[in-house]
Amino acid sequence: MPQQPPVFDVLGVGFGPSNLALAIAVTEYNATAEDVVTAHFLERQHHFGWHRGMLIDDATMQVSFLKDLVTMRNPNSTFTFLSYLHHKGRLVDFINHKNLFPLRVEFHDYFEWAAGRVDDLVSYGQDVVSVRPVVEEGVVTHFDVTSHAPSGEVEVRRARNLVLATGLRPHLPEGVEASGRVWHNRDFLHRVEEVAEAKRFVVVGAGQSGAEVTAFLHERFPAAEVCSVFARYGYSPADDSPFANRIFDPAAVDDYFGAPDEVKRRLMEYHSNTNYAVVDNDLIAELYRRVYREKVLGRERLRMINLSHVAGVDEHPAGVRVTVESLATGERETLDADVVVYATGYREADPTALLGELAGRCLRDEHDRLRVGRDYRLDTDDHVLAGLYLQGGTEHTHGISSSLLSNTSVRVGEILESVLDRREPRVPAARDFATTASSAH
Ligand code: FDA
Repeated sequence: MPQQPPVFDVLGVGFGPSNLALAIAVTEYNATAEDVVTAHFLERQHHFGWHRGMLIDDATMQVSFLKDLVTMRNPNSTFTFLSYLHHKGRLVDFINHKNLFPLRVEFHDYFEWAAGRVDDLVSYGQDVVSVRPVVEEGVVTHFDVTSHAPSGEVEVRRARNLVLATGLRPHLPEGVEASGRVWHNRDFLHRVEEVAEAKRFVVVGAGQSGAEVTAFLHERFPAAEVCSVFARYGYSPADDSPFANRIFDPAAVDDYFGAPDEVKRRLMEYHSNTNYAVVDNDLIAELYRRVYREKVLGRERLRMINLSHVAGVDEHPAGVRVTVESLATGERETLDADVVVYATGYREADPTALLGELAGRCLRDEHDRLRVGRDYRLDTDDHVLAGLYLQGGTEHTHGISSSLLSNTSVRVGEILESVLDRREPRVPAARDFATTASSAH
């Protein structure tokens, strides 16, 4: 008899902050529940890591520490950022700091500390490669999830519910390929040590990451010129004013979810400057201060090439020849650079890529986007009883906080509640599905 894979109530794919928060929610639920939820999480990295390539020393969080992994769901939790600070002996120092926005490296350390406390629920080094339906009497009751370990070993786990939280994909403009000298900023800190002798950098993009990379290179390479190329006239500030910030509230998810498409579109248009292609005011001021200081001193090595785009990148053994074109005049300038860093953002990944034949059983709206319930459960045809949940990839249904940390703690509570509510899957009589049973696998 082939060995049956273990069956979990919840299997999570990816173990970034989203599924880490879910692991905590499950752990807290199980601490008092009689009928525990069995959960496990699979992560392709070999240990916990959150955007390690951008853990720039002085970069800060763009979200209040109170929007940590748990506080908005359960302020009494021992997994709060404040509990972490207490554990590390820094609580009073943090209070004296009078700052809502911790360093990014500090929040990463907080995530690692929390991940270490739910270590029993995670398998690292497991790259999930496929999800297959398990069919009983014509109905999909479970999923078999296959992952590859670095040794090449293939593992299969079975689950009643799957929570996909695989994050965003780095985006490069069409025609651009990452290489030894052309990087997406995702890998920035891993690569930058390789170029100690660089004389010129080109940074593409005017968002937070572009500004951070520009400031870092300018400071760390005092002999190099840093050219920041972007289509805008200048960096634009992130709107983190209190009323606008409400767009990240849990209640805003309800408003957005229930709104007609046209209102959804308008909300994104009004408030995209809370998150997209914007920069913290302090960093804008710092970069301007540097540009002005160099003007006064007569040695200008921090160049803002605005209203422009990169028209060509020609890589050769000694460097990269970058052609920059003015959007105003069409004039072209050639820059011989050692490295080009594209800080050109991320895109939502297609969550159905892993689902194989199940992808065809996920329902779509008139724009061919996935239909998702308020509980983040994908709408599927009636013959799929097992649950597919998304963390991320739901901006079209749940709004701007979908790929951010702001609402994570509340979202995982809602997902867990949905799993609990549906705990006893109804297996309908076979005759209900007589017409489709033969086509289901
Ligand atoms: P995340 O991308 O963090 O994790 C996904 C995980 O899934 C990864 O660990 C990946 O390895 C794993 N994975 C993917 N495919 C897999 C597979 N097939 N098998 C196994 N594992 C797989 N937001 C915010 O609110 N405030 C902030 O301050 C910031 N700051 C910030 C800085 C930087 C530099 C970036 C790039 C982004 C932010 N963000 C942010 C936004 C960011 O998307 C968010 O903070 C979280 O990373 C979202 O967490 P997730 O767990 O959903 O995805």
